[in-house]
Amino acid sequence: MQKLRLGVLGSGKGSNFRAIYEAIGVGRLDVEVAVVISDVVGAGILKLAEEAGLPTAILDEPRYKTRLSLEVEEHLVSVLQTAEVDLVVLAGYLRMIKEPLLKAFPRRIINIHPSLLPKFPGLEAWKQALEAGEKTAGCTVHYVDEGMDTGEIIVCAEVSVHPGDTAESLHARIQEAEHRLYPEAIATLTTPQSPIRNPQSYWLAFAFL
Ligand code: GRF
Repeated sequence: MQKLRLGVLGSGKGSNFRAIYEAIGVGRLDVEVAVVISDVVGAGILKLAEEAGLPTAILDEPRYKTRLSLEVEEHLVSVLQTAEVDLVVLAGYLRMIKEPLLKAFPRRIINIHPSLLPKFPGLEAWKQALEAGEKTAGCTVHYVDEGMDTGEIIVCAEVSVHPGDTAESLHARIQEAEHRLYPEAIATLTTPQSPIRNPQSYWLAFAFL
């Protein structure tokens, strides 16, 4: 069976990308990283990818902060298609995904979010959980749709909130959980039955609704 080819998108330090890449290295995850793409020049995730000798690309988007303009998102689609990407993995990518990418990769874009969705979508979710007095926080891997952290949930992991936790200590504990959960979640999508390998099953399910 051919290995799934990942296109990883990130805007930040890339610790989730590193966890995925390390899982591949030790044989826990049988996929290939086809390309790593960032919208931030000098982002940690790009440095990690370059050190690993992986193909990288930068999205030049001076006009908007929270999304890509139509032309740049269309360029992103062509970069992913040229790299023969099967699954788009958002790893700390901070812009909303719009129609060009959603249409080109239907149900083949996933994200990890640092809360137990549907609770606390959006920025600094760990802080939102702490301020709400939650006893349990966590992280969620989900398919991406046009909303903010609203797509169908694939899997989540719980993390206890400790007495005396600060936003930083809770965030660090959630990130540790993310680094275990994301590679495991991607591994579940590599099976022969996975919807990523059988996109027609998704459309068939719709046809029979
Ligand atoms: C993670 O906490 C993830 O949940 C969120 O963005 C953060 C990215 O961190 N979507 P990193 O760049 O992977 O270290």
